Amino acid sequence: MDKKITIAVDGYSSCGKGTLAKALAKSLGYIFIDSGAMYRAVTLAMLDRGVSADDVDGVVKLLPDLHISFRNNPDKDYYHTLLNGHDVEERIRSMEVNELVSPVSKIPDVRKFLVEQQKRLGKDKGVVMDGRDIGTVVFPDAELKIFMTARAEVRAERRLKELQQKGNTQVSYAQILENLNDRDLQDSTRSNSPLKAAPDAVIIDNSELSKDEQNALALKLAMDKIKS
Ligand code: DC
Repeated sequence: MDKKITIAVDGYSSCGKGTLAKALAKSLGYIFIDSGAMYRAVTLAMLDRGVSADDVDGVVKLLPDLHISFRNNPDKDYYHTLLNGHDVEERIRSMEVNELVSPVSKIPDVRKFLVEQQKRLGKDKGVVMDGRDIGTVVFPDAELKIFMTARAEVRAERRLKELQQKGNTQVSYAQILENLNDRDLQDSTRSNSPLKAAPDAVIIDNSELSKDEQNALALKLAMDKIKS
């Protein structure tokens, strides 16, 4: 039997990390974990309880009562995040959460709380996890680390199309572009686990690649590691 490896997929906002990570996990029969969804779930809990993102102690006090889990069915392309047993997949993708998730993910105790869970979820290998610090902090020993990037304008256009397909016509291209540039700046300049490529990561710029091309490239990288 082939050996199981750990695959870390990091990179900028909205550059298709999830798409690539899900495709890779499905092809390999691995578990897929969206670590960003976990930061989003904490942000949603904070909003629901009326706690402000500036109230660090208030946010930290919520953590012991938060249970984040996933219900995934790769065959049906179904990947949902549950917060205390409730399906919050749609709510964690709102613009309100988008705007507050970077400040929340800067809080050291929030990172500690989630990184411990992420390490536990990947302890048996056979996992593809996407995020910002997976190759640098969560799984520094991952056999394969991919760092994804694409031009901001390309990312904003893709995101706009995705939202429009879901029937969301409220958000403009300019708003999306501003939010992703702002999140990238906050995520890469924070002092705690900033977004950056691990020195041993393979960089994929998918500005000019189709989904099939990027997925094939990632699968080849994974198979090379699995067979080595
Ligand atoms: O992948 P995403 O866009 O859903 O992530 C949402 C936010 O969560 C992102 O702007 C920064 C934060 N995040 C993080 O700090 N570390 C991770 N491993 C994943 C996400």
